[in-house]
Amino acid sequence: MTPDSLWKDNILYQPESLIEVYKNKLIALSMYEHAKNHTNNSVGATGGRNDDETKKHFAERFLTSSARTQFVVIDPREDFKTVSNNLKSTFSSGEISILDIPAGTGAGILSLLTSLAELRFHSKLPKLPLHVNIVGADFSTSALMIYSQLLQEIENVLKQHLIFIEYETCEWDATNPQSTNLLIRQFLKEEDKYEEHYVLMSAFSGVGSSNYKKFDKSFDYIQTALSHLHTTILYIEPNTNEASTFLGFIDKLHNKLTTWLSKVINLSINPDARFQWHDPITGNTPKSAIILKQYSRE
Ligand SMILES: C[S@@+](CC[C@H](N)C(=O)[O-])C[C@H]1O[C@@H](n2cnc3c(N)ncnc32)[C@H](O)[C@@H]1O
Repeated sequence: MTPDSLWKDNILYQPESLIEVYKNKLIALSMYEHAKNHTNNSVGATGGRNDDETKKHFAERFLTSSARTQFVVIDPREDFKTVSNNLKSTFSSGEISILDIPAGTGAGILSLLTSLAELRFHSKLPKLPLHVNIVGADFSTSALMIYSQLLQEIENVLKQHLIFIEYETCEWDATNPQSTNLLIRQFLKEEDKYEEHYVLMSAFSGVGSSNYKKFDKSFDYIQTALSHLHTTILYIEPNTNEASTFLGFIDKLHNKLTTWLSKVINLSINPDARFQWHDPITGNTPKSAIILKQYSRE
């Protein structure tokens, strides 16, 4: 059962702790009014390298992205039981390392961690010590700056729920295999310390389908470099034509590689993966829909 604070009358509500750090950051960036007045269209800023694009994306799209991740974690209608259970079990206790790509300003990871904290608070999950090592990578330095600041802001709240985080960021260009090599070296530098490795890839499809081919070598490299580890790769995307093309591209990549990532969960055609969420900044209740794919090696 999902607590009312996260899901009520078929509407998703984001954790108070997440809303608070997000709101404070909007105010600090002088973007609160912008966020309040925008219309939750499905089309919005797609993120980018410079400060202004990053701020706009943060103000317009952060909560949409975090709502999608939360919907998968809490899975209130049991649409993605295997994925949700796998997430809850991986992030239940022990030492886990997570690669968050593209990190953006952290909607995915913050949503994951604050949702887990809220589930622990309501005794829906056991409160066992959990140490999460986070490597967030993106080609936008301005996004990574906000990313680190938000994680710093949320760190103490998470601690109260026995979720302890360490984090670092890495400037990374997915079109450049050398840059991906450096990222993976950073991610795996203390690989023996962790019981599991997790790769969260959320909202990458928006970079435009003409770019996917350029990620080929890097994605290929990531999978190969992780192939000796107990790993899960989870892709969470909005349900758009572009995202279907992106996940099709990912599928081909995985198929032509090895079979080491044995379990594939593909819920891209699940018609129920639609939901409504409450936007605490605009007061609106926009609709959202997701598609996802999970590859895991037990
Ligand atoms: C929509 S955001 C996703 C952020 C986050 N994962 C989320 O769920 O909100 C997309 C990110 O992709 C990044 N990006 C675009 N092209 C990239 C590339 N070639 N290499 C690395 N990051 C890239 C952008 O800077 C942007 O932060």
